[in-house]
Amino acid sequence: MRLDKFISKSTEYSLTDAIELIENKRVVVNGHIASAASGQAHKNSVVTLDDKILIARSSRYFMLNKPVDTICSNIDERYPSALNLLDVEKVDELHIAGRLDAGTTGLVLITDDGHWSFNLTSPKNNCEKLYKVVLVRPLTSDAIPLFRDGMLLRGSSKLTLPAKLHIIDSHNVLLTLTEGRYHQIKRMFVLIGNRVKSLHRQRIGNVELDVDIGRWRSLTQEEVASLSVNTE
Ligand code: URA
Repeated sequence: MRLDKFISKSTEYSLTDAIELIENKRVVVNGHIASAASGQAHKNSVVTLDDKILIARSSRYFMLNKPVDTICSNIDERYPSALNLLDVEKVDELHIAGRLDAGTTGLVLITDDGHWSFNLTSPKNNCEKLYKVVLVRPLTSDAIPLFRDGMLLRGSSKLTLPAKLHIIDSHNVLLTLTEGRYHQIKRMFVLIGNRVKSLHRQRIGNVELDVDIGRWRSLTQEEVASLSVNTE
């Protein structure tokens, strides 16, 4: 972990403060005064600040039921960041693992553990994501093999990975994907002459959304472990 991040994870100081502490030569790593914020703190490194040993807090993992008109980046743009809904300390250190569009609702996973989210969102991981889709036009079971066999999205030379389509009724379906290309579901339905009216993510892997819209909770250790895979 970068040294500035380690300091911020083990104290009340922000990342910016941490850089200043390093510049002011108040941080020592394994007996040597630290000179760069980008230096590394390893598992067995002894890091001190003003001679006090620092112990990094463990990583944090949350689920949030994302409302419409919020975005999954860390900074507010046209819409506010969904991260604003979390009333926890140091929200600026968190990020969303696997984005949803501004208009999409449902399950997003939030963490400060970059390795965990990298592995989780890696295409090699094959992690299933389940979406509830409401369609503008009626759909018949003829569409099932199209999703299963893969589609060539506009501008792409690679077929989409096999997706499972379950038809609830003419306008409501469940769709399970193992990848997350840009606007993927909307583009898939456009390709077969339909349109998405609303989109909601209900499950990622074995982790099922169980909080109301706009609410969040910490993930259990079992949930974190169930989504921990090493794709490196
Ligand atoms: N597919 C989309 O088109 N949008 C999302 O937000 C997620 C999947």
